[in-house]
Amino acid sequence: MNVPEIFDTMDYGPAPESAAEALAWLVDGGSRYGLFIDGAMTEPGDQFASKNPATGEVLATLTQATQEDVDAAVAAARKAQPKWAKLPGHARAKYLYALARLVQKHSRLLAVLESLDNGKPIRESRDIDVPLVARHFYYHAGMAQLMEAELPDREALGVCGQIVPWNFPLLMLAWKIAPALAMGNTVVLKPAEYTSMTALLFADLCREAGLPKGVVNIVTGDGHVGEMIVRHEGLDKIAFTGSTAVGRFIREATAGNGQSLTLELGGKSPYVVFDDADLDSAIEGLVDAIWFNQGQVCCAGSRLLVQEGVAERFHEKLKRRMDGLRVGDPLDKCIDVGAMVDPVQRDRVVRLLDGSAGEVYHAATPLPEQGCYYPPTLVTGLAPSDALMQEEIFGPVLVSTTFRTPAEAVELANDSRYGLAASVWSENVNLALDVAPKLAAGVIWVNGTNMFDAAAGFGGVRESGFGREGGWEGLLAYTRPKGARKPLKRLEPVAAPAEPKVDGLDRTAKLYIGGKQARPDGGYSQAVWSAKGELLGHVSRANRKDVRNAVEAARGAAGWGRTTGHLRAQILYYLGENLSARAGEFADRLRHLTGAPAKAAAEEVEQSVSRLFTWAAWADKYDGAAKGVPLRGIALAMNEPVGIVGAFCANEAPLLGLVSVLGPALAMGNRLVAVASEPYPLAATDFYQLLETSDVPGGVANILTGKHEELAPHLAGHLGVDAVWSFSSSDLSGLIERESAGNLKRTWVNNGRARDWAGAEGEGRAFLAAATEVKTIWVPYGE
Ligand code: NAI
Repeated sequence: MNVPEIFDTMDYGPAPESAAEALAWLVDGGSRYGLFIDGAMTEPGDQFASKNPATGEVLATLTQATQEDVDAAVAAARKAQPKWAKLPGHARAKYLYALARLVQKHSRLLAVLESLDNGKPIRESRDIDVPLVARHFYYHAGMAQLMEAELPDREALGVCGQIVPWNFPLLMLAWKIAPALAMGNTVVLKPAEYTSMTALLFADLCREAGLPKGVVNIVTGDGHVGEMIVRHEGLDKIAFTGSTAVGRFIREATAGNGQSLTLELGGKSPYVVFDDADLDSAIEGLVDAIWFNQGQVCCAGSRLLVQEGVAERFHEKLKRRMDGLRVGDPLDKCIDVGAMVDPVQRDRVVRLLDGSAGEVYHAATPLPEQGCYYPPTLVTGLAPSDALMQEEIFGPVLVSTTFRTPAEAVELANDSRYGLAASVWSENVNLALDVAPKLAAGVIWVNGTNMFDAAAGFGGVRESGFGREGGWEGLLAYTRPKGARKPLKRLEPVAAPAEPKVDGLDRTAKLYIGGKQARPDGGYSQAVWSAKGELLGHVSRANRKDVRNAVEAARGAAGWGRTTGHLRAQILYYLGENLSARAGEFADRLRHLTGAPAKAAAEEVEQSVSRLFTWAAWADKYDGAAKGVPLRGIALAMNEPVGIVGAFCANEAPLLGLVSVLGPALAMGNRLVAVASEPYPLAATDFYQLLETSDVPGGVANILTGKHEELAPHLAGHLGVDAVWSFSSSDLSGLIERESAGNLKRTWVNNGRARDWAGAEGEGRAFLAAATEVKTIWVPYGE
């Protein structure tokens, strides 16, 4: 018998990992668990079963937290927070370091327990999940250490409610808890109902690390408990990872309550294979992209786009590889694909595939007779609009289609309401790096897939949610600028006087849309009176259609985002120069509008010129970063424009307020639909004359006038708008946040708080962060 024949006859030999320690830990815990509140486990309450999906056996019973429990957890976290935040960064760093060390010391126990509870192969929990958990705590121990020196102007938010899903139970816990604690927050975390065991083991580690009571609280239970957290008034922030449907609900439920919110939601990430790719590597990558964790991964490469010339060969190779994947006992170290988390999830996948119009190929690999398994599956022959091409399946199912040209690949890749991640495979670095910036996704892997690191920001665009986890950018979501803001007084337009003074020619300022002055669709206008009762002119009252036209014009100006920072800087300087040339005229306008003394009016103009210079300065200086990650490669953090920004300008600063949003939006490559100060709109309508003469391309900056409350639902609800900012003194925050839920656009609202437009808080990094999305691009680099 020769060697190949011997290989053929050899049986596959399982290499089971022992579950003894993990089962002993469960028995020690009494197998009936309470909640971790204020540093201690509570008595078990109403119990529900947590099962091993590979066998259906009950691992333990867990407590369905009640409202009183959630209240107690929030109260404990609240009590602990001020002291925790006041600790020197070094003290918090030591706790986080201790947690990282404890995760490493108990790494096998954590990995085995995770695989028992979730069904993921032990190879993954042992080699990916748990090491990344330790890395996250180490990295953020460093952030706690550096906070005082590097983030002197920022402070903790307070108490954070954190809700995590079942696909990476411990890793998602680490992603949420480590940055929160590092920055001085305390937390109430809810694991998913299917997979709470490692969170409860983590509670043990918190005690072992001597973490002060109440800093970490863990409440178990289903979506109802999640909802109690979401609706709790005692929380300063909600951080959620899970389905887009629940994310949308949370956006609506928390609208207007002043909380900070980050959502990391679903995806349908494209996996793009060009004909010059190393096909064998691309196949191996694809195995990791879609069969890692049974495809239950938010950024799974679940949509294969393969170039036509190699598609047949690629599919053949892929099927052969699928047939060789081993599906079975998650604790077997030779297993490629484990059990799905719960029969509910498997049934969901079966339902989605039922009656599919595509050609369905199930891997010819044996499945265990019992347990919650589903075979690796490939579906071809679907139209791009087919539900399977658009919906997140969240199981081991890959859909595939072909493309001819790079342009078509980009178009198909972006044909999704999601934008979490994408992989690009090509041996041609020019092609790969030409395509990467064109993909609408928060994370891009070049010739790789599913790489994660604590230093590299992770998060999506579009309906994949907002906010980043990891890196310096992730800390924004757990801090706020220091200092309290005063309430903002509502400012109404000057009412028509009893004895109006009307001199001179009537003049009605139009709207400014697509680089042209445009009459309002509704044909309505309103008079603008000075504080002394003089008629200063009329402005158009924009309506829903005008909003749509402005967004359409902005959409047509997409090329602005691809211009260089240098060019945008030149244009902003030119705007400043032109404003400066007409400073006297603008100061007079402000004086008449607001009744401000001449000096104050002149100052507002001067500050506006200076602000345009600030943003011209930043246009070519808001650099990204190259993150050193402990893998072969680097992760580039690129600051990309958000897209189309809608902005309600400050009522109280008619010129400076406009310039302060226009500057950062344009500098970073966004297009803007600005709604001018409602009581004093004429400074903005004068300003567009400068736009007309300062080389700002039509559609890049659009200016509407009218009633903020009337326009807010249309701008915030418009699916073509990517972000809405409100500095209006009208109470728009709740309205905007609620309406934004449709396409989960980013919002930045003032919650009725005043901002000192003339001072440092009228410009700076908060504006830069709001005007950009960090795109993390992983590229091979070095050995
Ligand atoms: P889910 O979004 O319902 O669950 C995630 C977490 O949210 C769990 O802790 C759950 O208890 C909690 N939750 C559920 N309803 C809530 C509510 N009303 N308020 C607050 N918290 C709530 O996800 P589910 O139902 O387990 O899975 C359904 C689908 O969601 C999957 O098929 C998949 O497509 C997607 N999903 C996406 C994830 C991602 O990371 N992108 C993670 C989990 C699920």
